[in-house]
Amino acid sequence: MRIAVLGTGVVGTTLGTALVRTGHEVRLGSRTAGNEKSLAWVAETGDHASEGTFADAAAWAEVVVNATGGLVSLDALTAAGADNLAGKALLDVSNPLDFSGGFPPSVKQQDGRSIGEQIQSAFPTAKVVKTLNTMTAAVMTAPRSLPGAHTVFVAGDSAEAKELAGLLLLAFGWAEDEIVDVGAITAARGLELYLPLWLSLMGSLGTPTFNVHVVRP
Ligand SMILES: NC(=O)c1ccc[n+]([C@@H]2O[C@H](COP(=O)([O-])OP(=O)(O)OC[C@H]3O[C@@H](n4cnc5c(N)ncnc54)[C@H](OP(=O)(O)O)[C@@H]3O)[C@@H](O)[C@H]2O)c1
Repeated sequence: MRIAVLGTGVVGTTLGTALVRTGHEVRLGSRTAGNEKSLAWVAETGDHASEGTFADAAAWAEVVVNATGGLVSLDALTAAGADNLAGKALLDVSNPLDFSGGFPPSVKQQDGRSIGEQIQSAFPTAKVVKTLNTMTAAVMTAPRSLPGAHTVFVAGDSAEAKELAGLLLLAFGWAEDEIVDVGAITAARGLELYLPLWLSLMGSLGTPTFNVHVVRP
């Protein structure tokens, strides 16, 4: 598939590399075409990688990944263009972390609504799936780097888009029973509000390389 990854940070480049590795064409999107990080990523990733503006990437793609800062995601997606997102699966891995009060950051949800829900409301024909925001970038695409089974969540209103997200996750190495569907896009509230606990765990464990596992009978 042609997949746009909006975001040139560690998450965008890690996901972009893993998506190319698993057989996709990836275009990394940013505010300005030809920025240093995007060009370095394309040079390192090879033939199936390209870069451009948020709008170039989204217009070209069949599937879009939002890997921009949660507090600027609506701006980034507006720049990508509503028409370029219409009808497409939009995987949202962002967290609306507010660092203005120092560390640890707080989770900023407008009127109790997650950024995943706000994206779905702003772009009603996009099929938003919140996923992968509950772990560090390296674990997202290399789940077997941690011992044992652990959990990745998906939330969204479109069963079809969640199925597509599941296929991409399986290709990264997640097992079927590790992918836990937590329901509609409203469930993105909890996935984002997990971040304060994630940050505390990172502090107490002394590493970002960990995950949680939902167990059931
Ligand atoms: N770091 C992790 O391990 C991790 C784990 C889970 C979830 N997340 C979430 O994943 C997302 C990406 O994280 P990251 O650390 O890779 O990158 P980041 O630094 O949070 O975001 C980088 C991207 O945001 C864009 N951006 C910055 N300001 C903007 C603005 N005013 N308008 C539009 N776009 C703007 C940048 O555009 P340019 O390319 O033009 O500079 C860049 O592409 C975040 O929401 C983060 O909370 C991160």
